[in-house]
Amino acid sequence: MLYHNLSVNAAGHLAIAGIDACELAEQFGTPLYVLDEDQVRANCQTYVKAMREHLPQGSMPLYASKALCFKGIYPVIDSEHMGADVVSPGEIATALAAGFSASKLYFHGTNKTDADIAYGVEQGVGCFVVDNVNELTALGAEACARGVTQRVLLRITVGLDPHTLAAINTGKVDSQFGVPIETGQAMRFVAEALKTDGVEVVGFHSHIGSQIFEATSFCDQVDRLLAFACAVRDELGFVAGTFNLGGGFGVRYVESDPEVDIAANIAAIARHLEAGCEAAGYPVPRVLLEPGRSIVANAGVTLYATGGIKTVEGYRDYVTVDGGMTDNPRYALYQSAYTVLNASRANEPANLECTIAGRCCESGDRIAEGIRIARPERGDIIAVLTTGAYNFAMSSNYNRVLRPALVMLHDGEARLAVRRQTVDDLLSLEL
Ligand code: LLP
Repeated sequence: MLYHNLSVNAAGHLAIAGIDACELAEQFGTPLYVLDEDQVRANCQTYVKAMREHLPQGSMPLYASKALCFKGIYPVIDSEHMGADVVSPGEIATALAAGFSASKLYFHGTNKTDADIAYGVEQGVGCFVVDNVNELTALGAEACARGVTQRVLLRITVGLDPHTLAAINTGKVDSQFGVPIETGQAMRFVAEALKTDGVEVVGFHSHIGSQIFEATSFCDQVDRLLAFACAVRDELGFVAGTFNLGGGFGVRYVESDPEVDIAANIAAIARHLEAGCEAAGYPVPRVLLEPGRSIVANAGVTLYATGGIKTVEGYRDYVTVDGGMTDNPRYALYQSAYTVLNASRANEPANLECTIAGRCCESGDRIAEGIRIARPERGDIIAVLTTGAYNFAMSSNYNRVLRPALVMLHDGEARLAVRRQTVDDLLSLEL
């Protein structure tokens, strides 16, 4: 099995954290998002422990809410001593509704509107990650009008594409996120921020990408950010106390994906930062990380009921499911690979090569192609693994398909955390 929280029980069914997947489907209906809270906690603990061990005091992981945002995740994040990255008033309101402290929120977003800025300041979010000069000006004005000083990190584009390291990295300089070092704009951005009333610059933020497996990309990022910080110190006399290195640690979707040793990666990044700071005579800053995928992805499984096999003779076998791109658009968007199992026949050999197709009137509505599962019968429960990140969060009502429920598993018990959407929910918005 891909993950140690998955097993096959005496009935030959897939069990998630010891709980029978077919019974979950029976009890809560399908499609169903299942989230193993204990796995989420274990993932959080890996980050917190490694960061406490290897990085200066005050360093901590911030959960990237965009990966999976619903009220029930925040008490888990909070009790595991993490902050959170939020990107919209919707995410802020969800965190606050769950009792999460505003002071532990870091407010991201490429194009925060005046209303977003006002809301964030009003709610007392701990720190804004300011994306650009326009936002800086608007935020300074808002903070002054309210008589407060807003702590900020400045988002810097280091010009690194972790997926094409050998290539010339100009691709990432041309990005809608942050302000690039290479063009000289980042230096001017910092200078401007240092003289903007209403904001206090605490450091820099940079994010290099997602689903990254090696520590070397993050070490390259550290090099570039540190070189920039030294230039800022020399030119403007400002020393950054915080480096936020963003998110991006990869997870295993299929057996062939590498296993990432997050603790070892953090230790390697910390050693690299320390050595760089020592060489440059720069005080080692506290470090923030923003993991999303690596906190929730491997804790999630989606369960579907299959409508059976539809054979197109001479071509292929489709196994249809009662969800698809509406609850998981990642194959349609990115051709993301997934591991799929017949949860009803988890002991049987994977003897059917097939394509998993959803229920939308759209040929791209697929979850996986060319995979093998145990030959299903109509009504069998199909499990798609590693769906905790960017599935629920990116779901839609295309074709008026209703959003699934989400259950959390903890200590051998399943608890409904988000109920299934109803037609009345949809119609309630329409006048
Ligand atoms: N911080 C910032 C500023 C980000 O933009 C992101 C992700 C993260 C943190 C979290 O990265 P993670 O640890 O989850 O890799 N929808 C795509 C992923 C988009 C990620 C966008 N930014 C997917 O389904 O793969």
